[in-house]
Amino acid sequence: MEVFTLKTHLGARIESLKNQGKTIGFVPTMGALHEGHLSLIEQSIKENDSTVVSIFVNPTQFDRKDDLEKYPRTLERDLYLLEQTDKNMIVYIPVAEDLYQGTVEAKHYALNGLDKTMEGKYRPGHFDGVATVVHKLFEAVRPHKAYFGEKDFQQLRIIQTLVENLKLPVEIIPVKIYREKDGLAMSSRNRRLKPEMRQAAPFIYQTLKQAASMKPNHSPGEIKRQVELAFEKHPLLRLEYFEIADEENLQPAKKFDPRKKYRGFIAVFAGDVRLIDNIPLN
Ligand code: PAF
Repeated sequence: MEVFTLKTHLGARIESLKNQGKTIGFVPTMGALHEGHLSLIEQSIKENDSTVVSIFVNPTQFDRKDDLEKYPRTLERDLYLLEQTDKNMIVYIPVAEDLYQGTVEAKHYALNGLDKTMEGKYRPGHFDGVATVVHKLFEAVRPHKAYFGEKDFQQLRIIQTLVENLKLPVEIIPVKIYREKDGLAMSSRNRRLKPEMRQAAPFIYQTLKQAASMKPNHSPGEIKRQVELAFEKHPLLRLEYFEIADEENLQPAKKFDPRKKYRGFIAVFAGDVRLIDNIPLN
């Protein structure tokens, strides 16, 4: 396994692989790796000659200082897991100032309004931070394919839009949500859940499944109300939002159009840990 921290060193290695005609797959992460990440990495290993995994807790995408401070950091364990997965892997652990080339701050991106709803509304500036770092990571790694999980579906759509708008030479590969046996979507934040919250958290996916089953006979407004009621009655979990949105433009749906695809999107506080999830409604 090779580990790089500086862009120039990584760039030289990528250049030499490309000169040998090798294809590069890329999985950007913020570390605290779990099986969800490993499923992205395994897909990249299958589909490319070389896989680069980045580990970087990007400060510019956090809207709350305490969230950034408390974000789990398990670098030693992450490196061990990566080594077990593939001895030929390239790991990129950027130094913030080197990746950002100076001041570590987000740029503003035009994202066709996809950054204005749901996560964008509740976490101001979050998607500018994500777009900035992903753009910089793509410039550093220059991958042929990059893998993003559907758990962060809004992020995935935003990255697809960024790539289209800036005509970046990379193919974005969406990967299905990886769940625990009890349905909780895998997330680095899950390890911060207190035991009673961890026990309660599968309620999120159960409610999403119930919402999806209502789709044939109910309007988006009726489904939304049902989900809100379910959480009002829950003793531990606090709903931040549930929204039904068009998969393409992420605008909230007022009524279902049979030609379009929809998803239910949810954000929930389990104590001070904020969890997100989503479900296709077609
Ligand atoms: O999904 C994440 O872990 C992060 O948002 C990403 C894509 C690595 C950018 O920091």
